[in-house]
Amino acid sequence: MDSALDWHGAKALLEWYVELGAVDAVGDVPIDRYALAAETPKPARTRATAAPEVPVADPAPADPAAEAEALAASAQTLEDLAQAMRGFDGLDLKKGARNFVFADGNPAARVMIVGEAPGADEDRIGRPFVGRAGQLLDRMLAAIGLDRTATDPDEAVYITNVLPWRPPGNRTPEAREIALMLPFLKRHIELADPEILVLMGNVPCSALLGRTGILRMRGRWTEALGRPAMPMTHPAYLLRNPAAKREAWADLLEIRARLDAAP
Ligand code: URA
Repeated sequence: MDSALDWHGAKALLEWYVELGAVDAVGDVPIDRYALAAETPKPARTRATAAPEVPVADPAPADPAAEAEALAASAQTLEDLAQAMRGFDGLDLKKGARNFVFADGNPAARVMIVGEAPGADEDRIGRPFVGRAGQLLDRMLAAIGLDRTATDPDEAVYITNVLPWRPPGNRTPEAREIALMLPFLKRHIELADPEILVLMGNVPCSALLGRTGILRMRGRWTEALGRPAMPMTHPAYLLRNPAAKREAWADLLEIRARLDAAP
């Protein structure tokens, strides 16, 4: 970095990094790793020197898709499933994530919400929908009498995501990643056994309905895994497009009406 960089220059540079998607500071001072490599001599190895013990990471499974299917099928409870997913090494996103994000809310709830993937706040805290979009989601749910902290299944919601690890820079999950984790999501829904699914955005629609186009699909009941499913625009989209909140409100009322029709 240019040592003549002044305060304003440094601020502009930082803002540019943020614009590019850098959200995590990994050190207080920059490290020139090229200089480091040149300065650090390689340790001489003699025959008598024992190799240092390097912790060996669990190898990725040879057939991650088959492994995901088998692990998901063998989970008999949500706790089993969380443990199986946490230990699954077939998805590279795990290596870059700080936390495994499984679910939040009440598993006995009548409504289960499926989001996309953890963002920076969720990755830091280890729970889904806790950032700005999550706070908006909580307000939307409160408007129809639902609350993730409620113990009464009639008033509660259960929340998960298609992916349990954050994609770098919050990029959109890839089709390959969605397909790999799909057996876990299906088993998650089976075990929680909600009456209604709410699919927040294109990623859960792609995973569970096999199609995208949320702006066309939202607001119309469809079926996913044999359950009524309501596609809705993602709260993050609503934060960027406040005018779309009006339609989201109509979708929330649809959900409320369906819950009231089958108490
Ligand atoms: N967006 C999602 O889809 N899920 C989260 O958990 C957070 C943001």
